[in-house]
Amino acid sequence: MKYLPIQNILFTNNRKNFSERIIANSLAIFHSNDEFPRNGDQTFPFKQNADFFYLTGIDQEQSVLILYPDCPNPLYREVLFLRQTDEHIAVWEGHKYTKEEAKQASGIQSIYWLQDFDAILHSIINYADNIYINTNENDRYSYQVPYRDVRMFEQLRNRYPLHHFERSAVILRDLRAVKSDIEIELTRKACEITRDGFVRVLKFVKPGVAEYEVEAEFSHEFLRQRATGHAYNPIIASGANANVLHYIDNNQLCKDGDMLLLDVGAEYANYNADMTRTIPVNGRFSKRQRDVYEAVLRVMRAAANLIGPGVILSEYQEEVGKVMTGELIGLKLLEKHAVEKQDPKMPLYKKYFMHGTSHHLGLDVHDFANRYKAFEVGNILTCEPGIYIPEEGFGIRLENDILITENGNVDLMADIPLEADHIEDIMNS
Ligand code: GLY
Ligand code: MN
Ligand code: MN
Repeated sequence: MKYLPIQNILFTNNRKNFSERIIANSLAIFHSNDEFPRNGDQTFPFKQNADFFYLTGIDQEQSVLILYPDCPNPLYREVLFLRQTDEHIAVWEGHKYTKEEAKQASGIQSIYWLQDFDAILHSIINYADNIYINTNENDRYSYQVPYRDVRMFEQLRNRYPLHHFERSAVILRDLRAVKSDIEIELTRKACEITRDGFVRVLKFVKPGVAEYEVEAEFSHEFLRQRATGHAYNPIIASGANANVLHYIDNNQLCKDGDMLLLDVGAEYANYNADMTRTIPVNGRFSKRQRDVYEAVLRVMRAAANLIGPGVILSEYQEEVGKVMTGELIGLKLLEKHAVEKQDPKMPLYKKYFMHGTSHHLGLDVHDFANRYKAFEVGNILTCEPGIYIPEEGFGIRLENDILITENGNVDLMADIPLEADHIEDIMNS
């Protein structure tokens, strides 16, 4: 791992919070992610399962966690199983956690090698009434390839058919949405690295540079600051490419007079930043570009003010839609009388702003959370309005990450240049 060690109190607390929410006399099992085949003898770079990391801080493949807070044998109330390392693995693959290191990273005292898993599990599972399995319940995801937790469920259901099975995901969905201080610090770090990448890019962009060169500038800055890399495939979209919401080809030249949309974030210690800025390739906004930019910025500020405890996502989106509608009328993209007659179920603003304004951010960029639950203190939400105008060959989106606190919202990206004048100043300095 490139990131610096994290205080294990984060993971100890997370396990405690989870354990307090399960039914009495239950055992929960969590797995690290699979290693995914690439081609030939290669696998994709390993990415830890977000829930597994949340509960252990262990960033290594082939690891398993058992939590059984009421286990009659105190030794097995929290048990971590790791792939046993040896000289061969050390030479070919490099360093793996020793038991001592895993103890230090996770705060878990009982660490075993993976080959002991079946025997230890069997020795305790018949004393438990319920088995919690961690299925992926992200409502935007439906799995095609069975992952470790569902494979384990199939095995356990056959071997222990009369146990009662429960879902860990509903507990984690509530817990993960509320960020602790250490998580906030790690997210701040990801935002700071993202800021430095953006400032570097502001000084780099000029007519004729390629989108992939801009991507490379971000990658360079991220890596040199211990980020794992990009939090998601970066969108480096010049001109009309900005109107393709998930544009990731990043293979065109940035032209004089065009705008350049940058939706980029660093991943640090598995925590993510999610930023969007849109800048003029030649360092000066045209009148029209600036008008649209200022409109998006006003919507962003209004939306960020609407975020707060008790707010429901769908109601918030509706309010932001009203603000956006006013701006689109001001830009002469919508007509007032057409808006007055619009079908409220299909508001006209969606022609120019067709995505949601906010999503939770954390260990996943689109973080695991309950979309029907009101926002609460400790949530981190993106705020990302945009106006996309294919007929004018450009689109503008701005995105900051907002933390809800007891004393109001904190913009974790408040120090990333945003005002049009500020952007121009840096680009021309
Ligand atoms: N970068 C992905 C998003 O903004 O949601
Ligand atoms: Mn984004
Ligand atoms: Mn986002």
